[in-house]
Amino acid sequence: MTTEVAASGHDPKYQKAVYVFEAPVRIWHWLHALSIGVLCITGYFIANPLPALQGEASDHFLMGTIREIHFIAAYVFAIGFAVRIYWAIVGNKYARELFLPAVWRPAWWKGLGHELKYYLFLTRKSHKVMGHNPLAQMAMWLFNVVLVLFLIFTGFALYGEGLGLGSWADRWFGWVIPALGGSMETKMWHLLGMWVMLVFVVIHIYMAIRADIMDRESSVSTIMGGWRMFKDDRP
Ligand code: HEM
Ligand code: HEM
Repeated sequence: MTTEVAASGHDPKYQKAVYVFEAPVRIWHWLHALSIGVLCITGYFIANPLPALQGEASDHFLMGTIREIHFIAAYVFAIGFAVRIYWAIVGNKYARELFLPAVWRPAWWKGLGHELKYYLFLTRKSHKVMGHNPLAQMAMWLFNVVLVLFLIFTGFALYGEGLGLGSWADRWFGWVIPALGGSMETKMWHLLGMWVMLVFVVIHIYMAIRADIMDRESSVSTIMGGWRMFKDDRP
């Protein structure tokens, strides 16, 4: 049987579906995406406030409501991320890939080189991967771990200013403001973080849909249903 597989180039491991993204990862993915959408829209309006409305401010409280929605989405975003860290510890091996790209493995770097060639249209053959390919892992780590932590730290530091000196947010995150040079600077970095995140979102959605059509394995249905399926059984 083994010789037959080797001779024909078919690999039994690609003949059956593999359960990659467990339910907590999938639920987190969509909550994370939704909260980022709300944070970007409300954050944009905090940075570019709407013109003053007529009448008593307390009658409509428009900017106050926008800030409140930003803070509710911020809690969903931050608590969701904490739960996702917990799931990286107790979940399956694919749940850890987001936090720990296997940079110590030479094969990982080889895979990264291949993916770069693939996306630069220098090779037609896409490699099959059960979890994320190395390029996706690297992008996920930079934008969804490093950048997410940056937005949480700067966001809660600014939130601490509103809650007041000595509040829990001020005690945990207050140090970020002097470290970044002041309140205005922290707001600018937080705002810049939004634009960097939007760059990721646009490329990510494009690549997810493209992968679903062009690659040799499922993509969008995998982040919805959890199962990775292969379109052929060659390695
Ligand atoms: C704010 C928007 C979004 C963000 C920040 C985001 C972030 C992420 C992250 C962090 C992962 C890795 C999941 C993990 O291993 O824990 C992921 C996977 C994935 N996302 Fe998104 N996502 C967003 C929106 C979308 C949308 C709208 C789609 C659908 C077109 C999508 C399709 C996918 C797919 C297909 C995967 C799995 C990739 C694979 O098969 O390796 N994402 N996304
Ligand atoms: C994807 C994540 C996030 C994005 C895209 C985002 C975006 C933004 C933007 C664009 C601003 C306006 C900055 C300016 O004044 O020019 C803002 C302000 C702010 N954000 Fe976020 N934010 C995110 C996460 C968070 C988190 C996790 C918190 C934590 C509570 C937070 C709290 C705040 C606060 C307190 C302000 C200042 C509000 C004010 O000055 O009235 N943000 N955010």
